[in-house]
Formats: sequence, structure tokens, C-alpha cells
Amino acid sequence: EPNSLKKAFHDDFLIGTALGTSHILEKDSAANKLIISQFDAITPENIMKAEVIHPAPGKYDFNLSDKYVAYGQKNKMFIVGHTLVWHSQMPAFAQKIQNADSLRMFMTDHINTVAGRYAGKINSWDVVNEALNEDGTMRESIYYKLLGENFVKEAFDLAAKADPTAELYYNDYNIEQPAKRKGAIALIKKLQASGTKIDGVGIQGHWNINDDNLKIIEDAITEFSALGIKVAFTELDYTVIPNPWDLKGADVNQKFEENPLLNPYPKALPDSVDTKLAMRYKDLFALFLKHKDKISRVTFWGVNDGHSWLNGWPIKNRTNYPLLFDRNYKPKKAYNAVLELKTKM
Ligand code: G3I
Repeated sequence: EPNSLKKAFHDDFLIGTALGTSHILEKDSAANKLIISQFDAITPENIMKAEVIHPAPGKYDFNLSDKYVAYGQKNKMFIVGHTLVWHSQMPAFAQKIQNADSLRMFMTDHINTVAGRYAGKINSWDVVNEALNEDGTMRESIYYKLLGENFVKEAFDLAAKADPTAELYYNDYNIEQPAKRKGAIALIKKLQASGTKIDGVGIQGHWNINDDNLKIIEDAITEFSALGIKVAFTELDYTVIPNPWDLKGADVNQKFEENPLLNPYPKALPDSVDTKLAMRYKDLFALFLKHKDKISRVTFWGVNDGHSWLNGWPIKNRTNYPLLFDRNYKPKKAYNAVLELKTKM
């Protein structure tokens, strides 16, 4: 395979992708071919989240997660665990918890059991996911409300004990943005000052094709790295279609059939937008290369456009084009643009 992301960036950082169930079960041969040839790191898009893996008190379902880990081992990939502590996609029983002791018991049992089972097999855990608000304050999640800010420290300490070998990350979206970044830095500094092990920060990277945020991303890379931790881009994609809140008079409940602007490219991505997306990715990867000494991994949130969560959020059944491979698993302009950065060096 002359063209391969993982080979091109081999000396720079890992190149990852998020796996859905069909990928883990190897039911999608075109996708599995791409996964194996292009990527050397994997993240489970949904199947290690608490609602899937820990559906009832004391009851765990490791069927898919065992297969996920085996798939990564078989293909000699860097295996990410996602995610141990997140207020979203919690099992129904845990969402109903109303006191600190019970929530602490749930969290402790969860981390011990899940991180413990895969100790020495998962290379990196997203230990705590999305604990911050946009202004940098702590999100009023069930964890924060019942356990206070210290739940973050407790979670990292439990994870470090359950699996002393895995790298431990704090993962969030928009933490490149100044206010939220400041909050994340303060949080990480407190963890470090209290002797808690934290190896890295995950900047999710769910961005918009119209974002001009390279300077902000660069500042984030330097500032996080100055804390002595690794920086990973953990869930990269660029939506190329407008969100309802970006369109005058539109809202999330409007059917896009009523407002074609909400689903502007149902058949194919216009060449001009495809080119613009390629430029975005190229500029972004040029920045990553400039800071490759600080960046451990760049993971795309999905294998190809057809599988992206952005087709279903925030409105279902749209046609989005956020990734490097199209619906036919063919490389897009963005793929070539990113690879060119290495071949022309
Ligand atoms: O599997 C069920 C299916 O049985 C059911 O019929 C169907 C009905 O809605 O839902 C299916 O589950 C969906 C699941 O994705 C699998 O496709 C859930 O409704 C849906 O909410 C879930 O969305 C996931 C989302 O996290 C949930 O918060 C996305 O796939 C996943 O890409 C997304 O990933 C998150 C990261 O974990 C954290 N950072 C943000 C990122 C994007 O939101």
C-alpha cells in the first residue's frame, strides 16, 4: 500500500479512527480494509461506554469490548479505551442515583472492573470525558453535583490503580478555546499538584468547515504541552453542512425536507466544498507536523463519511461529508492533501 496515513505519519504521531460495531465484528470488508491499511490506533465509538458495558448494577457485558481489544491486538494497533467517567450514556440505573456514596460505589466498581479487565491491554484511557462548561467552570453533571470537583481526581486515581500501565487522558470538546482551555489547565494543574497521574489531554476536534481556529489550536497545543503532558486529537471531523442554529429561522425540530438548506448536499459534495475541506485538513495537519514533538495521536471520529455520527446529529438522516474517505470508501481530496504534506517534504 503506497498510500497510507499511518505509514506517512509513522515517525510523527499515531493515526487513529473510531470503530463502530460493524467494524469490530469485521462485517464491513471495505471498511476493515481501510482500517487496517490506514490506521494504527483505534477508539471504540460507543461500545465501551457505561450504558453498553455496565447495563445493570454489578452486571457487565464485555462481548463487544473483548472483540474490540482482540481486533486491535491482532492488527498491532494502539488501543484506546473510551470512556470511563462521562455524564452521558450512563446506564439508566446510574442516572437515577441520588447520593454521593452510591455514585462513588458505582464509579469505583465501574473503573475497577472495566480498566482492571483490560489492564495491560488498553494503551490509553479517556478517563474523564467532558467535565467542563464552555466558560471553563465545572459542568453541573451528576458526578459534579454529588461528588464535587474531586470526582475527577478520584477517577484518575482509581484508573491508575486498576491499570498502572495505561496512559490516562482527560478528554473534552472545544478545550482549545481560550476560556474552556483555561479551565482545563487549572483542572490538570490541580491533579498534578495532588500527585495524581495524568498523561495527556484529548482535544476532541469536532469542528466546522467554516472555523478559522488554527491559531487557537496552536496556542492550545503549546499551553497543554507546557504542563508536561501529551496532546492528542481524539475525535477529529469537520462538519460541512450547517447546523440549525447557524441558519436564520431554522431549528433542530425543523424537517430538512421543509428547509433544504439544512441538508444542502443530499447527493454529492460540490467540488468547491470538497476542495475547501481538503485545505482545512491540509492546514491542520501542517500545524500538527510543526508540533509533532508534542502530539501523540490524531484520531478521526469514524472511518468514512457514510459512518459518521454527523449524519445523525443534531438532525437525523442528513448527508454529511466530514472525513477523509467517502461513502464508497474512496479517498477524498482531503486525503491526498494531507498525504502530500509528507511526500513533498
Ligand atoms: O444502538 C442504538 C440502536 O439500537 C437504536 O435503535 C438507536 C435509536 O436511536 O440508537 C442507537 O444508539 C445510538 C448510538 O449512537 C449508536 O449509533 C444512540 O442513539 C446515539 O445517541 C449514539 O450517539 C453517539 C453519541 O456519542 C452519544 O452521545 C455517537 O454515535 C457517537 O459518535 C458520539 O460520540 C461522542 C463521543 O463519545 C464523546 N465526544 C463527542 C462525540 C460526538 O457526540
